[in-house]
Amino acid sequence: MQENTQDQLGERKKESYKIFDDIAGTYDPLNRFLSMGIDVYWRHRMRKELPNKDHLSILDLATGTADVPLILIKNKNVSSIRGLDMSKNMIAIGREKIAAKGLQEKINLDIGDGCNLPEPSDSWDVTTVSFGIRNFPDCFKGLQEMHRVLKPGGQVMVMEFSLPANRLIRGIYLFYFRKVLPFIGNLFSGHGDAYSYLNKTVEDFPYGQKFLDLMNQAKFHNTRAIPLTFGIATLYIGEK
Ligand SMILES: C[S@@+](CC[C@H](N)C(=O)[O-])C[C@H]1O[C@@H](n2cnc3c(N)ncnc32)[C@H](O)[C@@H]1O
Repeated sequence: MQENTQDQLGERKKESYKIFDDIAGTYDPLNRFLSMGIDVYWRHRMRKELPNKDHLSILDLATGTADVPLILIKNKNVSSIRGLDMSKNMIAIGREKIAAKGLQEKINLDIGDGCNLPEPSDSWDVTTVSFGIRNFPDCFKGLQEMHRVLKPGGQVMVMEFSLPANRLIRGIYLFYFRKVLPFIGNLFSGHGDAYSYLNKTVEDFPYGQKFLDLMNQAKFHNTRAIPLTFGIATLYIGEK
């Protein structure tokens, strides 16, 4: 990618939450449609990897419309989840979904920057972020912050898009990602280029071993990557 294009992407990431403010109303239905429902399965995969301990407290960054908290809370050993996001409109929809299920006592959402967490150190059992960290202006800072707020022995889980290793599948995937998804996404969200931007952030993201290296630099240990659906997405797990 050209250096100036990368600079522009970096600048846009600082205010990417404004894009999500604009597309919040269509985010959930478009997500289900464009991913053909696979994103729901991916979030359940995250749930299966939760630590097997009682009374878990979870901090979910870039929580959006609260899809991750609403799935993780199904585990009986999870007692509370706090979701943070920079987009007030995404959070407003998330709060409605939580209220509709009567889960306000267990899940609360707030405005919060993933690169500068308004949380004390050593305070959470698990930190999660799904399809959010690639939008952070500084994804390494996000990892450092997740490490800081985790209790010693706590677990981090990051789910993010990646590129499939198989060349044929990667070709089909890139065609879908570069052509089909931006066309449908921009059209139905009513936003000029939201989904073209989102597609660029995916191709720019350091996935696989590069991301594991960043996790290790952020002082996580026992780090591992679980490729999901041919490597279209990857779930990264580590411990403090
Ligand atoms: C693709 S959505 C993912 C939402 C949700 N986690 C999910 O799995 O559907 C990305 C979210 O990241 C949020 N975001 C972007 N930059 C952020 C930042 N610096 N701190 C916190 N959230 C941020 C956006 O507002 C948006 O809601």
